[in-house]
Amino acid sequence: MTSEERILELRSILHTHNYNYYVLNAPQITDMEFDTLLRELQDLEASHPHMYDPTSPTQRVGSDITKDFKQVQHKYPMLSLGNTYSKSEVADFYDRVKRALNEDFEICCELKFDGTSISLTYADGKLVQAVTRGDGEKGDDVTANVRTIRTVPLLLSGSYPHEFEIRGEVLMPWAVFEQLNEEREKQGEPLFANPRNAAAGTLKLQDSAVVARRRLDAYLYYMLGESLPTDGHYENLMYAQQWGFKVSDTMRKCATLEQIYNFIDEMDVKRKELPFATDGIVLKVNSLRQQRHLGYTAKSPRWAIAYKFKAERAVTRLCEVTYQVGRTGVVTPVANLDPVQLSGTVVRRASLHNADIIDNLDLHIGDMVYVEKGGEIIPKITGVDMDMRLLIGDKVRFVDKCPECGTPLIRIDGEAAHYCPNERECPPQLKGRIEHYVSRDAMNIDSIGPETIETLFALGLVKDIADLYTLDSSDLMFLPRMGAKSADNIIAGIRSSLNVPFERLLFALGIRFVGATVAKRLARSFRNIDAIMDATLEQLTAVDDIGERIATGVIKFFADENNRILVERLRKAGLKFEVDEEFVKESSDILKGKSIVISGVFSRHSRDEYKEMIEKNGGKNVGSVSKSTTFILAGDNMGPSKLEKARKLGIQLVSEDEFLAMLE
Ligand code: IVH
Repeated sequence: MTSEERILELRSILHTHNYNYYVLNAPQITDMEFDTLLRELQDLEASHPHMYDPTSPTQRVGSDITKDFKQVQHKYPMLSLGNTYSKSEVADFYDRVKRALNEDFEICCELKFDGTSISLTYADGKLVQAVTRGDGEKGDDVTANVRTIRTVPLLLSGSYPHEFEIRGEVLMPWAVFEQLNEEREKQGEPLFANPRNAAAGTLKLQDSAVVARRRLDAYLYYMLGESLPTDGHYENLMYAQQWGFKVSDTMRKCATLEQIYNFIDEMDVKRKELPFATDGIVLKVNSLRQQRHLGYTAKSPRWAIAYKFKAERAVTRLCEVTYQVGRTGVVTPVANLDPVQLSGTVVRRASLHNADIIDNLDLHIGDMVYVEKGGEIIPKITGVDMDMRLLIGDKVRFVDKCPECGTPLIRIDGEAAHYCPNERECPPQLKGRIEHYVSRDAMNIDSIGPETIETLFALGLVKDIADLYTLDSSDLMFLPRMGAKSADNIIAGIRSSLNVPFERLLFALGIRFVGATVAKRLARSFRNIDAIMDATLEQLTAVDDIGERIATGVIKFFADENNRILVERLRKAGLKFEVDEEFVKESSDILKGKSIVISGVFSRHSRDEYKEMIEKNGGKNVGSVSKSTTFILAGDNMGPSKLEKARKLGIQLVSEDEFLAMLE
């Protein structure tokens, strides 16, 4: 056998095992055997580059090539579905269809997967393109990323149409989602609120090797094309399953409203056992001929509808309320619960937000409480099952002293939150400020995570951010779970933070209400820390977008002698307390008072760079078009809805070149 033949053979063997493993869930060889075959193929492909094939199983591991996504026009627009929330609305849909068709029909009932939708194009049995929904008309070409999803076949088997599209949902299973968030928490990165956002975010990553590691999954639920196998939606998906696609086996054809209701009730129970999120049921008229007859409204098909499940709720016992203290001293109550299963995960804790919420719920320890998961990671308590309150426990009263340092808490009039005012000594506040300082958008010292901070703090090596600059490798080398290499890494990270520009350092100081954008504005207007420290309320509020609340935050911060000392220690350590010449040179007031929307795809700079330019020149980058938008910085392929809105409101479109010329 020649190497070329072996390559083809290996590809075919690996495709089959991939399918057995990921789609059928029935592996026939061990992981190690699989890896050995895959490695053999990788080696052969590397030495035979002319055999490159984008559908090879080796492409599943991704590559680190960075690319901006190409925008692609959908051949058939990607519409959304009308939502219903009750069985009577489902009955209305059913009756509408019945009247319009005036003949027998079947409804295909399916789960509504809660991920991000994708449209796949296959030609001659090969995956040629994968496009996100985008604005429904155009989406991003994320083919390289989708190739890494094991359940998306790169090559089909059997006899399939010459060309067709198949749409479905890319999902991140609960288990992967939780693990990912755990890792992000350790790294001090922002958490994903739910698996849907995590899946969508992952598909948009530039590095497909990272996508490959995120273990996404995909269910397909909608086939489009000129020569589909049958007139039945359900039947076509059964064919798709034969060709290698993952199609849910919970789909069911129903002939009566009663059967539909049964499906809904059954699935509302079954879905709780599923390893991924679902948020409802989708009902589709099964016959494609009948679908065409029913047609579309402007936004959605008349032949399909979604039924949304009520938020899932579990009942469990409230064991204890504990309190967390954040970097700014805000005290958040947390309910500790008897572990309970809720939409795929075990819930042990729920946020209670603040004292008012506790009072409104009239919570007592030992109560059986309702727990719901909204779009958030942390579930919330929505009520108490009063019938179950047999033995009344202690009423939950918000603590009056800081659980960490014992200082009496304060509550500012009109605010819901309680604060611990002991900024100087309260440990979670001290550690929180260091965590904020090293975080990515601040000084970006990524060699230091929360665990390292915990250790350094516990050993008394670092009590505030200026202490970081007194460390050397010998202080760190012998700490638990640390070696010479990680110690050096940490020191190198701290050292390179000396070059971080002033505006980010200003943000990193953690002044109340001074976020990254406000810090940039302050840096641009005042140029250096001394001017900011001495600024009056009037001088501060004279800066665009800086109101009394922020200005007071700044004044209070520097009124504290300790903070002034901190600044001096940092200055001595070599940190930059004035803006770079370049930052000033690139800055101007040209866009002062202007609200600018960025839309479309650009060729000369990235979106982020344009955002930066707008801010540097005194303008404000806003997300959506409104009456107060000054102009739209419009690239190619601007979304049709934005375009329409701009036209209606008579807002000017400025091209990339015109914009750059404006700044010259
Ligand atoms: S069919 C024209 N089937 O729900 C109808 N959509 O609100 C095309 N979704 O954008 C969609 N599960 O992302 C269909 N079994 C399912 C679905 C499903 C989830 C999502 C999809 C779509 C949205 C519509």
